[in-house]
Order: sequence, then structure tokens, then C-alpha cells
Amino acid sequence: MVDRPKSPVSGPLHDLDQWEDDLRRRYPEPTANPAKKKEDFRDYRAEARPEVTEFYRLNHRYQTVEFVRAKRAEFLPLNKRKMGLWDGLEFLNTLVDQSDPDTRLAQIEHLLQTAEAIRRDGHPRWFILTGLIHDFGKVLCLFGEPQWAVVGDTFPVGCAYSDKIVFREFLVDNPDSQVSEYQTQSGIYEPGCGLDNVLMSWGHDEYMYQVVKDYLPTEALYMIRYHSFYPGHRDGAYQHLMNAEDRKYFNAVRAFNPYDLYTKSAERPDIEELRPYYEDLWAEFLPPQLAF
Ligand SMILES: [Fe+2]
Ligand SMILES: [Fe+2]
Repeated sequence: MVDRPKSPVSGPLHDLDQWEDDLRRRYPEPTANPAKKKEDFRDYRAEARPEVTEFYRLNHRYQTVEFVRAKRAEFLPLNKRKMGLWDGLEFLNTLVDQSDPDTRLAQIEHLLQTAEAIRRDGHPRWFILTGLIHDFGKVLCLFGEPQWAVVGDTFPVGCAYSDKIVFREFLVDNPDSQVSEYQTQSGIYEPGCGLDNVLMSWGHDEYMYQVVKDYLPTEALYMIRYHSFYPGHRDGAYQHLMNAEDRKYFNAVRAFNPYDLYTKSAERPDIEELRPYYEDLWAEFLPPQLAF
């Protein structure tokens, strides 16, 4: 892995992509090579970069029920900024270190590469648009939020932590782990209540879902809202909180995930050439300006 200059955004990661690089390490792209099978038994902790380990330590310590409620109250009025497609992409792009030409367009390119791969596979237009906007919620960083409150695998708060949560052991430092009401299997929730009634750790998924929830089909909303919920969509945890609708639409989350994780490529999308197509696509579903 290449050493990168440290991002101006606060937190241990060099940039937000370092979390996603780590996801690719934990969940390698399936290959036809059965010899790779043994990777299933690797210890992701031992192999994680120190910045990533420190990032999860902070995330797991500070993502409490109280924190999630406070962030929802702060951001969900959606009164921070209005953005359209292009100003949104440009704003998002200021996330990376301006001095490093290699990562200067990283966010835009990730979104376009994700969307273009979905488009190449002949999926519906709302699915392509979902690829384009799924990470727009990372603008939280630009509103001054630390990395651990923007990215990272998400998980329910207010109930027992699953062993499927990456670096589960760091959650012993979370004050909620001392609250007995939060540590039963379903905690503050009714079994089978559905994830819509469950507080997830706060980050770019839930935020972006709230921004677009009136405009896109249910499948798209699940993809956006739960794409970082790896314990749920990759590891099958928290079935006891899900309802039939969640189980149905998690198929969409799983269909989306490979486009998010495995479409990073050295081949750079031609932004100017693609711009008119994506402006039309945005206009088909979304108002010219979205409230963040
Ligand atoms: Fe994301
Ligand atoms: Fe992404």
C-alpha cells in the first residue's frame, strides 16, 4: 500500500478511502481461484494498518445512543447547505489533500466508477444514480465531523453488539456497554421491529438516506442507508431486529456492495464526457438542489 499524505480532515486515517481500502482487504473480491479460500481464516486485526485500528478504536468508543441521537438532532433538519450534482461533487472533492495530485479526484472518481460499472451491467437508471450519489453523505467531514463519525462499518446502537462487528473488542470502551438496558439481545427495540426503528451508528449512510428518502425507490434507499452495515449485509448479523421488508431489500444492498468495493480502477473516468449523462440522470429523479 502506498503511503499517502495526511488529510486535513480530522482523524487517524490518511484519507477516507483508507477505510474502504481496508474493507477490500477484509472482504477480498471473490476469485475463481480456490487456493484463495484460506483467506477466510485470516486475522484482520493483525493485518490492519495502525491508522485503521486507531480509527475503529475511536469509532467504537464514541458511537453511543446519546451520540447518535445528538447527531440526528443536529443534522437531520437538513439546514446546512443546498447542493446540486456538480457543486456537491466539487465540495466532496475538497475532502482530499489538495497537495496530492493522485487523490485530488478520488471521491468523484469512486462515485463515477461505481455508477459506470452499474450502467455497464445494464441496471435500471435509479440504480446507476444510486451509485453516483451513495457517498455524498461524506460531506459530513466538511461540516467539521471527525472521520469516525462519517465512515466506518455501521452497527445498531442500544442493543447487544454482535461478534460480527469488526474490532468488536473495542466496544468495551463504549459507555453503552455499561448500560444493562442496552446490552440485552434486542436492547431498546422490539424483536423483529425492523431496521427503520433501529438507531444505527452515525455516519454518511443514514445522513444521505435522509437527504434523498423522498425521491428514490425503496431498493435505492436501502442501498444508500445500509451500504456500510457490513455486519448485516455481509455477515448476516442482527436478523432478530429485521422484519420481512428488511430481509427482502437487503438483497438490493448485497447487489450494490460489489460495485462499491470492487470497481476502483486505474482507468480514470472522463468526467467532462460523462457530465451531461449524469446531469440528465440526476434531473430525472432529484430536484436541482438537495438540502443537506
Ligand atoms: Fe460509503
Ligand atoms: Fe462508496
